[in-house]
Amino acid sequence: MNSLRTSVCTILGCDVPIVLAGMGGPARSELVAAVSNAGGYGFLGMVRESPELITREIAAVRALTSRPFGVNLIPAATKRELLEAELQACLAANIAAVTLFWDLAPYIVQRLRDAGITVVCQIGSATEAEAAQSAGADILIAQGSEAGGHVRGRQPLRALLPEVLAVATVPVLAAGGLTNGADLAWALQCGAAGVMMGTAFLATRESFAHDYHKQRIVDAEADSTLLTEMFHINWPRGAAVRVLQNSVTRGERGDPFDPAAAKVIASDDGRPITLFSTDSPLRSTTGDLEAMALYAGTGAATIARIESAADLVAEVVSQASTLLLEQNGAVDGASSSPVCYADVAGSAYAGMADQAELQAALEELLQAERAGARVAGHSALAMGQSDVGVLLTQVHRDEARWCAMLMGALRRLEAPPSGLVGAFYDKAMAVEDIDARLALLNRGQGWVVRKLQNLIPRVAQAWLRDDLVAMRKAHEDNIHKTAVLLTQRGSA
Ligand SMILES: Cc1cc2nc3c(=O)[nH]c(=O)nc-3n(C[C@H](O)[C@H](O)[C@H](O)COP(=O)(O)O)c2cc1C
Repeated sequence: MNSLRTSVCTILGCDVPIVLAGMGGPARSELVAAVSNAGGYGFLGMVRESPELITREIAAVRALTSRPFGVNLIPAATKRELLEAELQACLAANIAAVTLFWDLAPYIVQRLRDAGITVVCQIGSATEAEAAQSAGADILIAQGSEAGGHVRGRQPLRALLPEVLAVATVPVLAAGGLTNGADLAWALQCGAAGVMMGTAFLATRESFAHDYHKQRIVDAEADSTLLTEMFHINWPRGAAVRVLQNSVTRGERGDPFDPAAAKVIASDDGRPITLFSTDSPLRSTTGDLEAMALYAGTGAATIARIESAADLVAEVVSQASTLLLEQNGAVDGASSSPVCYADVAGSAYAGMADQAELQAALEELLQAERAGARVAGHSALAMGQSDVGVLLTQVHRDEARWCAMLMGALRRLEAPPSGLVGAFYDKAMAVEDIDARLALLNRGQGWVVRKLQNLIPRVAQAWLRDDLVAMRKAHEDNIHKTAVLLTQRGSA
């Protein structure tokens, strides 16, 4: 588990960076407690819920776990008076963290922060990320368009995440279509501080979603979901949701924007539910469930069974840890992202490295980075949560991320990356003293910086130059941090 700890775990107080999305309806006390008890972090989905229910649900979670958890609210979809009452309920219950979504409400962010509450904002673009962190968000969630439920932006996660990471000054969680350990490993390698999952947790035993909804997710195939604005009643206009296709999305239930077509089709605890509303079927819902909003992310296609939330968290942790340790497999998965590194490769011209030279230089760097990543990863495991262990974990993640970048660049230059690991690995692991190994690792990083310094001015392709500059900068930062630590330990 240690190898998965990130800054988000420190901020939220969880063991692993796996966050349950605050899904209005499905994310009730039983699921939140199960996720938090399993070492992740649960958010109660309390959009438009009464303060009485919020107070009851918070108490119910606390009866099931002593682990930390938070509450999700959506200011833009909630009437002012109710929102105020919801906030009061959270404050009175001393809630530790709140996730906010949709239109940013800086005054709410400020109020929560003033009360000492950690504020997590889900955003759908780099511009929104900048606005949310300026308003005071402690953590951002980058929501890709693969996400189930309301979808804010239109970029797939693989395009959005690097853009958000480039502007973020606070930790970023990745969300949208993520369901398993490979997704978590990929997100961490990209530089995210963890994942937030909705659909995968919706389909667990403890979720408050109706069994019909859970089964539809298990039955889903690759093309079962779509983005639509047809489920709109109760929400600001023009909001798209990702749902499983049904009679509504097939147009068999009439025009969603014709008021006469919006009849009552179901009931939840005595509350009537209208066709085309944003309500999804819950344990407490009866009626025409098929025609309700069956929210699901694109990852639904990968969900094969309904299991306990604890089993799901344990599987994600185990798979991600294995992948991250086995660098080749993990890095491969990460760099298969077509969007992060998509579009054109520039052509060489006078003074610039030609294709073959560039390919050779990137392959050489890749092998060195793989070796560095393995040294850092294996050493981090041995050092646990000590100051050296924490630093090595960070270096490991960075190195893995640059491996992914280099492999993507090589593929884009039509040169399949090798699976080779630089000789540096054996050399460094033969050094038993950890301070001496750290010093050697730093010299290895210095070698990479010098190679990059020589290479960057000769790279004609802007997309690659930017990545190499970022890589050099990250290495310089890590060299500095390592040198400071070695000095503190009296080893420099
Ligand atoms: C059933 C369902 C309900 C949702 N309700 C909310 C909500 O009330 N508030 C919120 O911030 N996000 C909500 N979301 C969106 C999640 O925050 C998150 O972006 C999404 O679940 C991530 O994608 P995934 O479902 O593919 O994991 C909901 C998602 C689903 C599937």
